[in-house]
Amino acid sequence: MNELPQQIDVLIIGAGAAGLMCAAVAGQRGRSVLVLDHANKVGKKILMSGGGRCNFTNLYTSPENFYSENPHFCKSALARYTQWDFIALVEKHGIPYHEKTLGQLFCDNKSKDIVDLLLAECRAAKAQVRTRCSIESVKPLGNGYRVETSLGPVQCQSLVIATGGLSIPTMGATGFGYDIARQFGLRLVPTRAALVPFTQHKRQLERQQELPGSAIPVTATCGAGSFHEQMLFTHRGLSGPAVLQISSYWREGEPVSFDLAPDLDLAEWLVQQRQEKPEAHLHTVLAGFWSKKLTQHFLSEKGIESRPLKQFSPSELAEIGMALQTWQLVPAGTEGYRTAEVTLGGVDTDAISSRTMECKTQPGLYFIGEVLDVTGWLGGYNFQWAWSSAHAAGEVV
Ligand code: FDA
Repeated sequence: MNELPQQIDVLIIGAGAAGLMCAAVAGQRGRSVLVLDHANKVGKKILMSGGGRCNFTNLYTSPENFYSENPHFCKSALARYTQWDFIALVEKHGIPYHEKTLGQLFCDNKSKDIVDLLLAECRAAKAQVRTRCSIESVKPLGNGYRVETSLGPVQCQSLVIATGGLSIPTMGATGFGYDIARQFGLRLVPTRAALVPFTQHKRQLERQQELPGSAIPVTATCGAGSFHEQMLFTHRGLSGPAVLQISSYWREGEPVSFDLAPDLDLAEWLVQQRQEKPEAHLHTVLAGFWSKKLTQHFLSEKGIESRPLKQFSPSELAEIGMALQTWQLVPAGTEGYRTAEVTLGGVDTDAISSRTMECKTQPGLYFIGEVLDVTGWLGGYNFQWAWSSAHAAGEVV
């Protein structure tokens, strides 16, 4: 194994989406670049993303798709390296892709296509990438940084922290980036698991033990968030895109509201059904668009007894419709960082230049990607943030 170079222009810690992108951009400007990662291979989260097909960006990416204490911070980087720029790169590498839904672009083949793209760009830029290297300490010098590693010391002019968030520790996630931020006196926005399934209390799970695997479209609402997507019942609680999305808005103890028939005015529809099929039972009619199992569950949760529709008054049916469109529950919790796709919070963006990602109080120190307090919705937005923030830093480091 070659020794590490002792002196380098740009040292990037973290060979994930943001780190590799930044290395390629900086290297293409003629900077000497070294990327170090403690994992045994690069881009592990890219490889597992999008169910193995990497949802690498979203056609409709805009700053509104991100949460941060400072919602303006992401604007500059997203505007200067857009989804169209990354799509052009994907096309340059001949990677086949498709839109799945809601502007989400996935590889036709495997996520590995995206890792190969990044590594090819790094090779073309002569950026070196080394894995299985742990970082022992970071010390500021007059003009740059000295980093002690398990493979020896490295001095650099620019140090880029691209170590991501806390989700999926088994994939190599650590709080390293937050430790470096603390070392240099930067504030951290409290972190929380996000894009994560909800868990439910044992008694609730017992009541829905027939349901794991069932999925329906819903509108999930909590606080300022509202998402019309699929909800999936699981053995631990609730998942599916609508639940993952709303988990980013949820706080412990708060109720989440689900419209179980988001494409219909259920009150009006039930009254109409009463006119057309007065003899039909409520559960039979509802089982027309939910399954029988789900219908029974929803009716029993609301304490509604099924009878022929003619035995309900129109106002009773309207009330039932309303109740099923405002189904509320308080999740017990979330599955946490073990399965969360991302980490909310992170390095406070007040301390960072939104144009360059450089720390305002610590020249030559940069933070990019998920380690920052910028978190995207589900749907390719988090990778787009990694590409855009990495590109912004790569142009100046
Ligand atoms: P990333 O986590 O990619 O990279 C950080 C790197 O730093 C890792 O290689 C890690 O080993 C290394 N590292 C950490 N600590 C270190 C230390 N102490 N020393 C050295 N190296 C260290 N997003 C999206 O847009 N579309 C999608 O389809 C998905 N799908 C998805 C599925 C799953 C299961 C997860 C967990 C996440 C997603 N995401 C996603 C989110 C996306 O993967 C994530 O936001 C980006 O990978 C963040 O890129 P970063 O480069 O910031 O961190």
